[in-house]
Amino acid sequence: MKEYISIKDLNFSYNKEKFITALDFDIPKSTSIGLIGPSGSGKTTIIKLILGLLSPQKGSIKINKKDYTHNELGYMPQQYALYEELTVKENLEIFSNLNNVSNKSEIQKRSEDLLNLIDLSDKAKELVKNLSGGMKQRLSMAIAMINNPEILLLDEPTVGIDPVLRESFWSHFKKLNENKITIIITSHVMDDAMKCDKVIFFIEGKIVAYDTPVNLIKYTKTNNLGDAFVQIVNKGYKK
Ligand SMILES: Nc1ncnc2c1ncn2[C@@H]1O[C@H](COP(=O)(O)OP(=O)(O)OP(=O)(O)O)[C@@H](O)[C@H]1O
Ligand SMILES: [Mg+2]
Repeated sequence: MKEYISIKDLNFSYNKEKFITALDFDIPKSTSIGLIGPSGSGKTTIIKLILGLLSPQKGSIKINKKDYTHNELGYMPQQYALYEELTVKENLEIFSNLNNVSNKSEIQKRSEDLLNLIDLSDKAKELVKNLSGGMKQRLSMAIAMINNPEILLLDEPTVGIDPVLRESFWSHFKKLNENKITIIITSHVMDDAMKCDKVIFFIEGKIVAYDTPVNLIKYTKTNNLGDAFVQIVNKGYKK
């Protein structure tokens, strides 16, 4: 598969100490890639670097061999940023406007489709402050998709999501992949990792393995990705 997002020799530190050193990886178009690693391993940092919310001290991130505009990206942050005093529908409208979607009927149609997807159609007129944590999480995901981005960056989107809804999210992600959308998703949950086309295991800002879930299990001679991860942490990854 051809490279689409290309990250080369990326170096980044929050303070003086280097946190991400010489990070190199390519992501093919129309795939779902999982950034998997323990808390503090750098998943959110990498998402923020791709988004341009953080600037690397060295290295480059290219999409299709070019610098890119942030209009091409959709982002669901780990901590949702919603307008609590507005309704669900108003939140979708505001974020549509912020993303330069100004056609009223288009906003209406997209909002309805997304509310359907996240199973919140019956809460469209509810104030966000009255929603449960999982509902806010789902609304935050819909907002990430409001501008029909070519690349979707989802930081722990399945936290607080029940298994049935998780399945429906994943079938939607696969449909997005078929429509040439590329998805980068972080998670602690190995069920999510299993659904990804490829998984990048991180520890302390470094890649310890990048492969398909099936290969990661096969070459570690384990039965599941959780065990594969533990083995790779202890013994490294060799094909
Ligand atoms: N604004 C900041 N200033 C200084 N250090 C930071 C900042 N944000 C994150 N860090 C540090 O960078 C490291 C990576 O953090 P990051 O949030 O990327 O991890 P993560 O893998 O997303 O963790 P989690 O799974 O808990 O969300 C951690 O050691 C963290 O303490
Ligand atoms: Mg994080």
